[in-house]
Amino acid sequence: MSTRPRTPAPSTPAPGKLALPELAQMKQRGDKIVMITAYDAPAARIADEAGVELILVGDTAAMVMLGHESTVPVTLDEMIFLTRAVTRAARHPLVIGDLPFGTYEVSDEQAVGSAIRMIKEGGADVVKLEGAGRMVSRVRAIADSNIGVMGHVGLTPQSATKLGGFKAQGRTSDAAKRLYDDALALQEAGAFAVVLEAVPAEVAERVSHALAVPTIGIGAGSGTDGQVLVWHDMLGMYAGHTPRFVKRYAEIAGEIGDAVAQYASEVRTGAFPEERHTYGISADELARFDETISAGG
Ligand code: KIV
Repeated sequence: MSTRPRTPAPSTPAPGKLALPELAQMKQRGDKIVMITAYDAPAARIADEAGVELILVGDTAAMVMLGHESTVPVTLDEMIFLTRAVTRAARHPLVIGDLPFGTYEVSDEQAVGSAIRMIKEGGADVVKLEGAGRMVSRVRAIADSNIGVMGHVGLTPQSATKLGGFKAQGRTSDAAKRLYDDALALQEAGAFAVVLEAVPAEVAERVSHALAVPTIGIGAGSGTDGQVLVWHDMLGMYAGHTPRFVKRYAEIAGEIGDAVAQYASEVRTGAFPEERHTYGISADELARFDETISAGG
């Protein structure tokens, strides 16, 4: 049974931008929604040209871009800086600015203030935050401020310590029911979509069926309305732990490593730069230059 979502926050997308209602229409049509993370302009441009619907400037930036051990340390200023780079390059996909840990938990006012900064300073189209419970009220406050907000339940990395580590969630009947209720509560509060992370496929499928708004899965099987993967994970660019739900579509780190090693070797042997990488000067100008420097001028 699906409960009715609240009217999504009004959006005024730029021409050519995906509009929020189109996501709900995709769900109704059964068209899968493609979401990927990006943290800089070149990645955003590639994702845009590949035709993805959603780009998440995720707080995974803390780990894959900034070298932290978890997502917790990244600040709102850092997330805004990265989001600005992405929004300069992403013309068609909707850009979601992830609110990092500590920027929305204290109060609804704090959450709305952080969301406004992400939109105004980062240029994000919408925001995302993790959790349910008290966070449902944060989602409602942000949506009531006319900012689109995406929910995120299941494995919520910002609270991994409380969850007992980076573990799959919703694996008992009680836990699955809590997750189901949380997703419905986020929808009722005004979330335009909900990420389901590290959740049994059967549970994710039932949640997706119950919700009128789209679900975006990561480690949640194929029954969600869309999928998201982290850029560095799916391209083989992250040296840390890779969860089992990641499919690596490329091994870019290896290719980059080979290229840098070849560059280093060619610099050392003098094989690089070649004539074709070099600017010239006419013989006359060079002769005059030589005269000037030999005269000490
Ligand atoms: O921060 C992030 O990249 C995320 C995705 C894993 C959904 O939240």
